[in-house]
Amino acid sequence: MPKKLYIQTYGCQMNDHDSERMAGLLAPDGYLLTDRMDEADLILMNTCSIREKAEQKAFSELGRIQQLHRQRPDLIVGVAGCMARQEGAALLTRHPWLKLVFGSKQIDQLPRLLRETTASGRPVIAVDDPLGEAPSLPAHRKGNVRAWVSIMEGCENRCSFCVVPHSRGRERSRRSEEIVREVTELARQGYREVTLLGQNVNSYGRTSDEGVDFAGLLQRLDGVPGLARVRFTTSHPSAVTDRMIRAMAELPTVCEHLHLPMQSGSDRVLERMNREYTIADYRRTIEALRAAVPGLTLTTDIIVGFPGETEEDFERTLEAATSLAFTGLFAFKYSKRPHTPALELDGHLDETVKTARLQRLLTEQQALVQARQRALVGATHEVLFEGPSQSHPGWLFGRTRAADQLHVEAPASLIGQMRSVIITQLRAHRLEGALA
Ligand code: 5AD
Ligand code: SF4
Repeated sequence: MPKKLYIQTYGCQMNDHDSERMAGLLAPDGYLLTDRMDEADLILMNTCSIREKAEQKAFSELGRIQQLHRQRPDLIVGVAGCMARQEGAALLTRHPWLKLVFGSKQIDQLPRLLRETTASGRPVIAVDDPLGEAPSLPAHRKGNVRAWVSIMEGCENRCSFCVVPHSRGRERSRRSEEIVREVTELARQGYREVTLLGQNVNSYGRTSDEGVDFAGLLQRLDGVPGLARVRFTTSHPSAVTDRMIRAMAELPTVCEHLHLPMQSGSDRVLERMNREYTIADYRRTIEALRAAVPGLTLTTDIIVGFPGETEEDFERTLEAATSLAFTGLFAFKYSKRPHTPALELDGHLDETVKTARLQRLLTEQQALVQARQRALVGATHEVLFEGPSQSHPGWLFGRTRAADQLHVEAPASLIGQMRSVIITQLRAHRLEGALA
């Protein structure tokens, strides 16, 4: 009898992909994925701790799973990912019915940990921070057109608000030939696009002795037969090199889109955040990118209400966000995180101030993003069709190279293929198109 595995995933694309890898690793042991928690033999929660809200969600879900466990004491439940590493043994003290607690760097050990707890009946915990090379792991991927590929783990930066250096540990990269091998195999299976994942992708290779940097990796991937598009996330502004810009400009597979978190438009705040650039540096980087890569779109992350942020600092953020013309912006209220230096800073702000600033930023930004979307109507772009449109039955969903999302009237036979599409209208924040 195959056993059933349910994975609940929170947080970023790294976590989504880590869940795919957990499923891939457990498949040889007879675990099949189910989307029904109530019929699972094994439940894994892959958690996120980037902001307090993500953690609260996971904790309340844990309560629900505990109810299920009361009815079915043979159910094995594990907590994985950032919260597991952050809370460690404290999680088991509070929830002694849990059988597995493991960090994102222990995913490769999951089959063994599971065998151990099954044999002993006791909980196992594995949350250390190994260095060296990041391993290559099998993955049970969700789609069949675009695939996530992890190229590095952890982070060596020390942004003062960020729990990642603690929750995901020190930086380690995978060997370039292993990444090339994985992507080659994906392209052979018919995948057309890969998104390279890491907390800090453009510092790829800085902790390894291989001598291949991020630009070098992009170059090697550009030669993979059948691969049409390469994307990557997340990049750090200070690690954007001339080599990286040249690679983005020259390599046909590398898409014209970059997610480059700005975090704040005020130098005073950036310094307190320990971001290692000024807003003038950030602007210069963007100018260089835009000059080299025609049609480049930029998206960003911004934190509002960082400790000590004044109204004037916030105005600078608004001004930068507006003048830099991002096509998408993810804005967050500063959230206190354990083990982070920003906890010790003075000037922590009231929730009401943070909420008001977030609202202002989002309102201004929405208008800009919509104006840009409207300006796209009438243009023709190459679209890779990923699958059926969820919002328009019978149509397909796809993305342009610049990462604009389109709903297109096109036959299902085009899934996995690229076509020229003319953008016909903007309806309810969605761009619609037709085959050109
Ligand atoms: N509070 C609010 N936002 C945060 N982020 C990271 N840490 C925090 C925090 N403590 C945001 C940053 C980062 C994105 C992934 O999450 O903007 O780029
Ligand atoms: Fe966190 Fe900064 Fe590292 Fe990004 S670069 S993961 S924000 S410490």
